[in-house]
Amino acid sequence: MMNEKVLLMLNEQMNREFYSWYLYLSVASYFSGLDLEGFEQWTRRQAEEETVHAMKIYNYILERNGDVVLSKIPAPTQKWNSPLEAVEAVYSHECELTGRINNIVRLTREVDDYTTEVFLHWFVTEQREEEAMANRVLQKLKMIGSDMSGLLMLDAQVATVGQAQEPAP
Ligand SMILES: [Fe+2]
Ligand SMILES: [Fe+2]
Repeated sequence: MMNEKVLLMLNEQMNREFYSWYLYLSVASYFSGLDLEGFEQWTRRQAEEETVHAMKIYNYILERNGDVVLSKIPAPTQKWNSPLEAVEAVYSHECELTGRINNIVRLTREVDDYTTEVFLHWFVTEQREEEAMANRVLQKLKMIGSDMSGLLMLDAQVATVGQAQEPAP
């Protein structure tokens, strides 16, 4: 039987991963509207990954005989003022999720739930990579400023960012 607080936080995290899916989908549609297909592909791919994250937790809760609690997914922001603003939103969201994962790891240690702690190690690594990836794109957007040709070059580059980089479960 899983600790109740751990179960609660895992359910919260699962829902937060589904929200991440929504956020990336929203950002992808924003980029589609700007005809930045590379950015669109990158964020669509991220969106799909977020459902994988959510389902990992979903499966884990069921495996541990816990109750999965699916809550309402809040609507994400739909429009940003610039690609930079949209990627800033993505980056700060990833940082927030890292903090949440760390909080659950801390709790598992407090209640001696080593099984869940080990399960969460995958997420710790994943967050490190997701933060690094979003930050790399963010920093390049800052360098580019308002240079359109730089933006188009970066668009071609980001089309493949994060491809096949998912660490083994
Ligand atoms: Fe995630
Ligand atoms: Fe993520």
